[in-house]
Amino acid sequence: MAFQLVRLDDDSLYEHIFERYVELERHTATLKQDLGIQQRDASTLEIDIEPPEPSDEVVRMKKSGRRRRKGDRAAEDEGPRTYDERYSVVVEQSLSDLNSSVSNNNSTTGYVLWSSTPFFLRWLLYSAEAQPFRNGNVAVEVEGASEDTIIVPGMYTGAQGDVGILELGTGISPLLASVLCNHVSGYVCTDQRGILNKLKQNLRENVSQITRRRCVSASLDIENESEGTISEELEEPSRTRRKLTVRLEVQELDWEKFSADVPHPYLDQLATECETVYILAMDVIYNEYLIGPFLRTLSALRDLFGKKQTRVRCLVGVHLRSQDIATRFLEQAVVEYELPVHSIRGAAVDQSRYALYLVN
Ligand SMILES: C[S@@+](CC[C@H](N)C(=O)[O-])C[C@H]1O[C@@H](n2cnc3c(N)ncnc32)[C@H](O)[C@@H]1O
Repeated sequence: MAFQLVRLDDDSLYEHIFERYVELERHTATLKQDLGIQQRDASTLEIDIEPPEPSDEVVRMKKSGRRRRKGDRAAEDEGPRTYDERYSVVVEQSLSDLNSSVSNNNSTTGYVLWSSTPFFLRWLLYSAEAQPFRNGNVAVEVEGASEDTIIVPGMYTGAQGDVGILELGTGISPLLASVLCNHVSGYVCTDQRGILNKLKQNLRENVSQITRRRCVSASLDIENESEGTISEELEEPSRTRRKLTVRLEVQELDWEKFSADVPHPYLDQLATECETVYILAMDVIYNEYLIGPFLRTLSALRDLFGKKQTRVRCLVGVHLRSQDIATRFLEQAVVEYELPVHSIRGAAVDQSRYALYLVN
């Protein structure tokens, strides 16, 4: 079943936070209690992104040849497999920079991979809940708003046009970019200046994961790489066509310095080339001091794309640690910045340590 949305206002946000932290308590035995670093004792990680194994019940049904019926929950929860996508992404992290008091002006969380990013990626690619993001233009049930449903644009380039992604606070993680570049027309990774070299190194290392599109990049100095055809993806394999292109760029975007008044060529390019831009930000809400600059930047970016007639949506993933920080983020987003924030609800998200918010 697809995810549902709950529109948060200055009242319901407290109810939402209360419920989420009660749920965390309930699942405390199965949830990791650490800070959220994916692996803090290795410099090189190999992250496999693969479809989950089908549940025993689904395997039994398949073996017995039983056909899937509407309302057949076990089968529905597996979701239709549009692609059997698999990736193996290598992430070089820097534990010495993480623990340094001088690197990147003492803002060092970006030197390692955080667990909300692989969680979100697997959910997006494989969960039945995330289908509206994969298929696009789906009416999703929404609670607490004047409308019963809202149309959620797809996060993949498709019938509704080209989609671009702007990732905020990417850190050194090549994970989202090297996988999602297979599905979008443009992707811009951003973070503070001191993080970008390692991020670029990681992206170059994983460009081979981008097999469905031809990747070009000025900032990474990649041109016409993996030129070829994609006959294997066409319904008629004998016909071949040139690969579609994805433009992957990296730029500094510091929330404490961001100004929409100075030129941002890669953002302009996204706006010009894409009908829809999704702003993704994973695990960037962890420090009270950064909430204001982050939200100010998010609002300015929404305006910047809006002025260029580009549809813009934001998806923020929060690792639920301090209840105060999560509450403060929602208070400022909803009350101060008046953003249309929706909590994404579904079993897989609700049973996790993460909260996903769609600013629609
Ligand atoms: C907890 S890390 C998450 C990194 C990455 N998204 C992940 O999931 O692995 C928080 C990220 O926010 C970035 N960040 C912190 N302050 C920032 C600022 N003022 N402007 C831009 N990025 C910032 C950090 O550099 C870091 O990459």
